[in-house]
Amino acid sequence: MPRFSDETIREIRFRNNIEDVISQYVQLKRAGSNSVGLCPFHSEKSPSFTVFSKSDSFYCFGCGAGGDVISFIRRAEALDYPEAIEFLAKRAGITVVQNEYDKETAKRRERILQMNKEAARFFHNCLFDEKLGKEGLRYLTEERGLSLTTIRYFGLGFAPDSFNMLTDHLKRLGYADYELSTAFLAGISPKNNRPYDYFRNRVIFPIISTSGDIIAFGGRVMDDSKPKYLNTSDTPVFKKSRNLFALNYAKKSCEEQLVLCEGYMDVIALHAAGFTNAVATLGTAITSEHARLMTRYTKSVVISYDSDEAGQNAANKAFIQLGAVGLEARVLQMSGAKDPDEYIKKFGKDRFAELLKATKSEFEFKFDAVLSKYDINTTDGRVKALDEAIRILSSVSSRSLRDVYIGIVATRLSVTADSLKFDVERRIKKNDGLNKRKESERMIAASQGYGDRVNPDFAKNPKAASAEEQILGILLIHPEYLREMKNRNIVLLPEDFFTEFSRKIFTSMVSFESEFDISLLGESLTVEEVDRLQKLRMHREELSDNKIETLTALIGVLKDSAGKKELTLEELIASKRKKIKKDET
Ligand code: UTP
Ligand code: MN
Repeated sequence: MPRFSDETIREIRFRNNIEDVISQYVQLKRAGSNSVGLCPFHSEKSPSFTVFSKSDSFYCFGCGAGGDVISFIRRAEALDYPEAIEFLAKRAGITVVQNEYDKETAKRRERILQMNKEAARFFHNCLFDEKLGKEGLRYLTEERGLSLTTIRYFGLGFAPDSFNMLTDHLKRLGYADYELSTAFLAGISPKNNRPYDYFRNRVIFPIISTSGDIIAFGGRVMDDSKPKYLNTSDTPVFKKSRNLFALNYAKKSCEEQLVLCEGYMDVIALHAAGFTNAVATLGTAITSEHARLMTRYTKSVVISYDSDEAGQNAANKAFIQLGAVGLEARVLQMSGAKDPDEYIKKFGKDRFAELLKATKSEFEFKFDAVLSKYDINTTDGRVKALDEAIRILSSVSSRSLRDVYIGIVATRLSVTADSLKFDVERRIKKNDGLNKRKESERMIAASQGYGDRVNPDFAKNPKAASAEEQILGILLIHPEYLREMKNRNIVLLPEDFFTEFSRKIFTSMVSFESEFDISLLGESLTVEEVDRLQKLRMHREELSDNKIETLTALIGVLKDSAGKKELTLEELIASKRKKIKKDET
């Protein structure tokens, strides 16, 4: 049962002009009746992101992202479908009428949030309970050096060493076993099917959303036992790949710069020391969703990870994610302490402020790592360092920046800038060649549907699958054919479809009472599925011939090729290779 009525979706789309909305994220330039700009979903230098005003849709010819204004917002703001609807409703000043919600789901979420709030209160009270919380309070204040103000500010708590105190408390307040387990506050014992407290004998860090709800918890042991932290897994109100610890506080002061840490304790120590723009991911490496989330609040991110090898490797990954969404990223490095928390404790906040002023760019970070890895006073060390430096330089896409860096490397490794530049450019050419080859293999594989996550059945019978997708493409452009198909007695049934994906889409198309509209399917589709449908439509729109006869012919192809065996990927690449070789000679 869809949560929103067709009218609501239509109204939302009508009142949120797609160009206006997208203009707030992308600088668009007119190109005929369309407009184009740099894709916000992948990094590119020439614009392949297009907004089609005629069909109220967008498509990126570079990365394949596409859809309507709703799926744009789902991506750009990292929201799920109902959140995107709410976002656009708010933007247009429409109130989405309460009775249109899937009331059950909304109520369930609301109850989990309420219950989490009760749990947080319980944990907090336990921490200050003379008997129950003594150890926890001692740990936080004496061992971790937190003030009572900081403890209260972050709402820290303590889960007593008991299997049932929280569970009993919440059940007394009327929450059911399944609610406790859905929220990850309790596990269900396989022996007697009864709930038991998930967090036990741990200090508790509540995780608060930017709208102020308590959405999850982290719990730390007070000794060296494992696991060090337990975290709430994904629940209906929490996704760890999309939330950042303390962003609810940091959002007020991070417009210029956000400090990204690894741990809860780092963030707490930083805020307590006045660096209120610190956040951390939650028991996971930074995801693209995290990166996109940050773009809503800041322009620039300082990666402030642990000084150990794992932390420094993680910084490399963070650079990739942050760069991909266009955030300026620098890295803060420290010595003499394992993480920001320890650093501030040892050296004080003024010294940390100095570190913040001495951050490094991605290039400096990587080149310094090379310099410390090799002894450049030996020939061997210098040669190896040079080789790695060339690799780093060849991945800097801005020419002028590259020139600057080439100058630095040349001086440092005592070679001439000219010869270094020559080698870097040669490496770039070689990389391009390799990339092209990889890309062509990937394209061959993709054209046959291998590694296709949206339509995984594709490769099993590419001919049939491709016919199906073309049929869908035509129907997306001409939904009226769906009606005509019946009149003219063209027989195409869901069971004629070979792939599950296409069958699912076709089934929804024919079961529509009003005229089919792809936007109205939105809630049942992932953003990647919406991309694919938009791509199918684009594909057919470029070929002008989308007559009903073409449709019938494609249906013929589909029925003919059902059940036929195709080449494996290896056979296929081998045969294409042979062909390319032949063409070359
Ligand atoms: P760290 O091991 O660096 O912990 O893990 P920390 O935050 O510095 O904690 P202290 O100072 O030792 O108390 C960094 C982050 O990785 C996640 C947590 O989010 C932690 O803050 N983590 C770590 C887990 O989720 N589970 C673990 O078992 C360990
Ligand atoms: Mn740490």
